[in-house]
Amino acid sequence: KTIAVLASGRGSNFSAVIDRIRDQKIPAVCVALITDNPDARAIDRAAEAGIPSVVVDYCAYPNRRAYEVDLFAAIEATGADLIVLAGYMRILGDRIVHACAGRMINIHPALLPSFSGLHAQRQALEYGVRVAGCTVHFVDTGMDSGPIILQHCVPVLDGDDEDALSERILQEEHRILPEAVRLFCEDRLTISGRRVLIKQG
Ligand code: GRF
Repeated sequence: KTIAVLASGRGSNFSAVIDRIRDQKIPAVCVALITDNPDARAIDRAAEAGIPSVVVDYCAYPNRRAYEVDLFAAIEATGADLIVLAGYMRILGDRIVHACAGRMINIHPALLPSFSGLHAQRQALEYGVRVAGCTVHFVDTGMDSGPIILQHCVPVLDGDDEDALSERILQEEHRILPEAVRLFCEDRLTISGRRVLIKQG
């Protein structure tokens, strides 16, 4: 299978996925990194791995619609079987989401449906939950609302600040996102309504 990864910043989740591919733990090839941010650190990570980067610079467009036309073209041009949103920080328009239905996944640093949207780790701290975590889900036209593939929880510890909790969650993100990519590439995921069925390996 081929995958394309969308990232907007640091790219540690992107690295986690391509490292597992490099180690032959995932039967896939990453054919492109696509980013909306020309300064994304993920671009350096792609270059180190010999993966082409495509920059669709959001700030170079007069409006969101024009941006999405080129972003959609960039995604389609990869011909990827799976689109992975790994720290991609913009909402995707319905046209792209419908075109990629069932083959676009996202990692979110909370146990959805709790704490969707931005600053999920901060939302969890402010709410005072004892357990936080992360979710990989299929992307639908809502925000962080598609069928859930994998989740993992972490404890919230006394004295945690946003950075400490975010770092603890990030370590689990680096485990469940590659695992979800592997399950997809091994054709072991079936969507049944809101539920995702995982066939045994
Ligand atoms: C991750 O915590 C991800 O869940 C969230 O933003 C962060 C991206 O980190 N969407 P990175 O760019 O993968 O290092």
